[in-house]
Amino acid sequence: MATAIQIKSLIKSHYEADNASFLTASLQVAAHEARQGHSALAQEIRTLIDRSKKEAKPLINPFAADENGLFLEIDTNHRLSELIVPVDLKNRLQRILIEYRQKDKLERHGLRHRRRILLAGPPGTGKTMTASVIASELHIPLYLVLMERIVTKYMGESSTKLRMVFDKIRENRGVYLFDEFDAIGAERSMGNDVGEMRRVLNSFLQFVEQDPSDSIIIAATNNISLLDQALFRRFDDVLYYQFPDEIETKYLIENSLGNFRGKQDITILFPMLSGLSHAEIVLACIDAKKEAILNGTNLVNIKLLEKMLKDRHTIFRPHSNNKTELR
Ligand SMILES: Nc1ncnc2c1ncn2[C@@H]1O[C@H](COP(=O)(O)OP(=O)(O)OP(=O)(O)O)[C@@H](O)[C@H]1O
Ligand SMILES: [Mg+2]
Repeated sequence: MATAIQIKSLIKSHYEADNASFLTASLQVAAHEARQGHSALAQEIRTLIDRSKKEAKPLINPFAADENGLFLEIDTNHRLSELIVPVDLKNRLQRILIEYRQKDKLERHGLRHRRRILLAGPPGTGKTMTASVIASELHIPLYLVLMERIVTKYMGESSTKLRMVFDKIRENRGVYLFDEFDAIGAERSMGNDVGEMRRVLNSFLQFVEQDPSDSIIIAATNNISLLDQALFRRFDDVLYYQFPDEIETKYLIENSLGNFRGKQDITILFPMLSGLSHAEIVLACIDAKKEAILNGTNLVNIKLLEKMLKDRHTIFRPHSNNKTELR
């Protein structure tokens, strides 16, 4: 029979809708039974786990009743290994995952896991992808908080909606992404509509500080310089994203092209890659792959990739004088 600790942990994780802990506890029960020599039972438990993993649904569907339409649940299928960022940033993301996985241990010493994270950087460098990575690595759902539904011009309404958001954050464990956070995080002293915006930001500061939940709150912005200074100390970590360097670009292209990559050395393309974001490079690789499939070669050579990268430059910088063109 499972030990008392295992049974308690199964019950606790079930009622907290904590899939990751429930899975760990179930596997521990299977391992325990195997050690007792009950190998048929151990195998039966493992089969049950495998089967439910395939049909994985959250233990509770918390947003069945998101009657205010303030969130959007997003599919998460990214792994940490797919995210191409400098080592230091990767280590800091690892730390968020490790602290979450061992939050009970920290709590026994009166400490909380880091769970309020600010992501800053240019478009297409992996901020939204990071939220997806964290949610999928921790086996918890990812919710996009719809800022345009929260920030309204009616006095007091935005703060009320923000309260509803934080009620959900408390009731339903998940990763909550406040994208384009400058919509509410812009400096309190800044111009337009000052009164209402100041109230919204003040409410956010208050709610985030008092939030007792285990949920992970992620705010993302392209414009960190716009953010109010008071915000920074409310976050447990501030992570900065930037355009990929040459080594990161190489990994990105290799990962994106996979089996379609030709043998030629892609470093020759580096001059025309600078100033492109991760997202733009990935899109150019996808375009090249599609072309390779349609022309029947199933191979992306340098010329093809170069063409698609040039197209990306033209799409994103139509008026720029493309000096990086290869000869
Ligand atoms: N660091 C990265 N490593 C690997 N792929 C990336 C990275 N950054 C972006 N991508 C690719 O580009 C896509 C879009 O990136 P993402 O949405 O995360 O950018 P973002 O920083 O949130 O941009 P925005 O500021 O416009 O919201 C990702 O789904 C992924 O395919
Ligand atoms: Mg984004």
